[in-house]
Amino acid sequence: MNLMQDIVKRAQENIQRIVLPEGNEVRTLKAANSLLEDKVADIILIGNPSEIMHLAKHDSLDHIEKATIVDPLNHAKKAVYADILFELRKDKGLSLEQAQKLVENPLYLGCLMIKNGDADGEIAGAMNTTGDVLRPAFQIIKTRPDVSVVSGVFLMFVQDHSYGADGILVFADCAVMPNPNAKELAEIAVTTARTTRALVGVEPRVSLLSFSTKGSAKHELIDKVVEATRIAKEMAPDLLIDGELQVDAALVPEIGKSKAPGSQVAGKANVLIFPNLECGNIAYKLVQRLGNADAVGPVLQGMAAPVNDLSRGCSVDDIYKMVAICANQAIGMK
Ligand code: ACO
Repeated sequence: MNLMQDIVKRAQENIQRIVLPEGNEVRTLKAANSLLEDKVADIILIGNPSEIMHLAKHDSLDHIEKATIVDPLNHAKKAVYADILFELRKDKGLSLEQAQKLVENPLYLGCLMIKNGDADGEIAGAMNTTGDVLRPAFQIIKTRPDVSVVSGVFLMFVQDHSYGADGILVFADCAVMPNPNAKELAEIAVTTARTTRALVGVEPRVSLLSFSTKGSAKHELIDKVVEATRIAKEMAPDLLIDGELQVDAALVPEIGKSKAPGSQVAGKANVLIFPNLECGNIAYKLVQRLGNADAVGPVLQGMAAPVNDLSRGCSVDDIYKMVAICANQAIGMK
């Protein structure tokens, strides 16, 4: 299965407008150039137009001229966006003057373009921290009506294709919620199952992970995962969800059979839900670095429109893939 090729093809068949607020960042520009050349998305770059064109010329990025470039300091909709932001945040104490200043921040501007229907999705984070990318998205775009927490998944492409869905596993939450409670963890599990169906196109088998399998140990940390599993099953009785499972019981058929007999998930999980962000973030980086897995993400889920974060160590190829994924999310939400 070449999932990334399928994702790019789906984006090419239904072109979405993706805004890149770090428009004068060189990796972003190179990715934008390839995306425009391959007709994967309509690209909106936020940044100083003459600086962007100078950088594009320097690197012979000839397709950048097809991008829409928005100067955050000077464009036709500045006042409209400031009014939208003021209306959204005045109850939180934001003044109109503060809103007028904030719309000059490309990360706020990108989210406001989506809110106003001028873009379908956003990718940022090559130069900004996760918190700086997420905060405007939480404030402006907010969560989908049926979701209360945003979380971040990684699509993990592992070497051994006997694991997961032909070597593809979905890990969550690896990017957003530092310490979810049982209800939030259940929501992350259910939302990740839906993301898996939509992006990977397989039936999710969701394991909620801990350091115990089916009561083999007792601890309040385990209690949270047991409770989250109960709530997740109640929220989505149609899904295959099980917990608490140790990761070997979740992944290895013989161990799953012996530690969790009768489970429809143990031994064949393709979705791994970690009990907190420390576990999720460390786990995906370990599998990526020591297991030589390709890690694509974080794909943010639960937002009312797709906004995705990049690692500041991202490559041009990472940005290209994330734009294609973001376009798929936007198509799925329409
Ligand atoms: N889902 C939905 N809304 C949220 C979430 C969430 N997970 N978290 C916060 N919010 C909302 C709040 O409700 C609040 O809304 P309001 O202002 O309308 O009331 C707003 O966002 C700000 O909330 P705060 O609690 O003040 O958020 P804060 O800015 O302190 O933190 C943040 C949010 C930045 C996401 C924080 O949770 C964080 O830093 N998480 C870790 C991110 C990170 O560092 N990840 C690891 C790196 S990523 C990687 O390695 C790939």
